[in-house]
Amino acid sequence: MILGIPGVLAAQQRVDDGQKKKEEEEEVSPAEDLMREHGVLKRALLVYSECANRLESGKEVPPTTVTATANPIRKFIEEYHEKLEEEYLFPRFRKAGKLVDLVGVLEAQHKAGRRVTEQILTTAKASGFLRDEPAKKKLTAQIRAFIRMYEPHEAREDTVLFPAFREIVPKNEYDSLGEDFEKREHRLFGEEGFHKIVEEVAGLEKTIGIYDLGQFTPRG
Ligand SMILES: [Fe+2]
Ligand SMILES: [Fe+2]
Repeated sequence: MILGIPGVLAAQQRVDDGQKKKEEEEEVSPAEDLMREHGVLKRALLVYSECANRLESGKEVPPTTVTATANPIRKFIEEYHEKLEEEYLFPRFRKAGKLVDLVGVLEAQHKAGRRVTEQILTTAKASGFLRDEPAKKKLTAQIRAFIRMYEPHEAREDTVLFPAFREIVPKNEYDSLGEDFEKREHRLFGEEGFHKIVEEVAGLEKTIGIYDLGQFTPRG
């Protein structure tokens, strides 16, 4: 096929756009990548928190909301995000002899988080749990324990671990790790994987009535 000048220009534009898109994708640093994943976790914790509030106050909780929240936490946070930290960050800190105690606590918390997610799923999958007061109490306690651990966990990683990571890894290695993280994310969740997970969590926020951000602005 022979392209005229406009065709050639359009084709070149597509190549340029593709290159620009690729460069933009590659510019996501490891810390930025991990921190936006923490944003997903934070939003899932907000859904959990609203579920716990409703369970405690006797308000209605859509039956599948808790399990539907545990799912992205498990597949995106526990089986992906935390694996990145465990495979790429923790060993480098241990090798450098930096923040070794903190890394030990963070790793133990990943294990505890997986255990609590399993407990949450077991309780929330039992039929009729919403009519069973002891089961509701148990589920509320499990959800609260999960939130109580992960809020300080992710805040400590954002403010201490990730900034220190930038310092212990040479710049070229740091940049290529960002690409490795992105590649793994795309392999596991597809090119638009991150946005799909964000949409999934946003859908849960809508179900439980906390999506509208403006509702949290103090009046007067
Ligand atoms: Fe972590
Ligand atoms: Fe993390």
